[in-house]
Amino acid sequence: MKTVKDYIRTIPDFPHEGIMFRDVTTLFSDPRGFRMAVDQLLHPYVGTKIDKVVGLEARGFILGGAIAHQLSIGFIPVRKAGKLPGKVISQDYKLEYGEATVELHDDAIQAGEKILVIDDLLATGGTAEAGIKLIERLGGEIVGCGFVIDLPELGGRKRLEALGVDVKALCT
Ligand code: PRP
Ligand code: ADE
Repeated sequence: MKTVKDYIRTIPDFPHEGIMFRDVTTLFSDPRGFRMAVDQLLHPYVGTKIDKVVGLEARGFILGGAIAHQLSIGFIPVRKAGKLPGKVISQDYKLEYGEATVELHDDAIQAGEKILVIDDLLATGGTAEAGIKLIERLGGEIVGCGFVIDLPELGGRKRLEALGVDVKALCT
């Protein structure tokens, strides 16, 4: 039987030379692959109280939206700077290749809400850490962070675990 990993393709030298880009569009486009990924991301949290799913732009929106729908709870986007229309809080971070800022609507999360953070891939952990900081600045409590792929050599898991966050990934 195929595993989640079998649906992911690797594109060399994208978006820069030397980057092996793990492309999940082939996972999302396959009905069994997409269902498997959503179910496996949810599985560790069955029976856990979750108030909202936060998805990290862009592929975290696709997975996080499906997970929020399955749990019948709300979905909140953490977006790159300048995309959200309301009043936002911002956080700068470094990427495996480059720098960026992410934002969250300042009224998207209420203090004490339990938040599941979802993205497709964990590399350095910079994006997820920035998202976690935004959520915690609003008083949200991180239940866990779920990823399809962990690139362990880039240290993201250790970085997030050092913050006391539970990290789950479907493959490395
Ligand atoms: C990718 C990926 C994660 C992030 C992981 O997004 O989807 O969000 O990088 O890297 P990190 O752990 O080193 O922070 P990307 O920055 O390519 O943005 P996009 O999804 O908007 O294309
Ligand atoms: N984001 C950061 N590194 C990546 C990689 N190697 N593949 C896909 N997305 C990424």
